[in-house]
Amino acid sequence: SPPARQCAAPIGNVARDNQGNEIRVHKLLAGSPCSEALKRVLVQNGRPGEGSPVYLVSNDCRLADYAISAVCPHQGCVVPWNSESQIFSCPCHSSRFDPEGRLLKGPAKQSLALLAVRVQDDRVLLLPRQGNR
Ligand code: FES
Repeated sequence: SPPARQCAAPIGNVARDNQGNEIRVHKLLAGSPCSEALKRVLVQNGRPGEGSPVYLVSNDCRLADYAISAVCPHQGCVVPWNSESQIFSCPCHSSRFDPEGRLLKGPAKQSLALLAVRVQDDRVLLLPRQGNR
């Protein structure tokens, strides 16, 4: 029989901006026309100085149930999103990742990590994701 699953309260961080203010989902999605695809918004996974930068993913006016770590798996630089070329491109040694954070070009050997996203009271909760990809 399958192992019993425990329904523990999720351990996660509230997504915040650089000033430490909580990200509000209704504001995040407001002003993004539904035709606009592939929006990537850089937030902090927790309070400033505590967590690491993460990209929230929205498409078609909906927040995805996953987020993409902005930390390059090569040597830890923060990887900017280039909305024009629709690519993550690391400024340190030029690794590249597709809009879902999958590795396109090294020297990084792995894709950007994924986190799970849960919306709670208009806030964004970032949680570890089981079975990363
Ligand atoms: Fe990103 Fe080296 S840290 S390519």
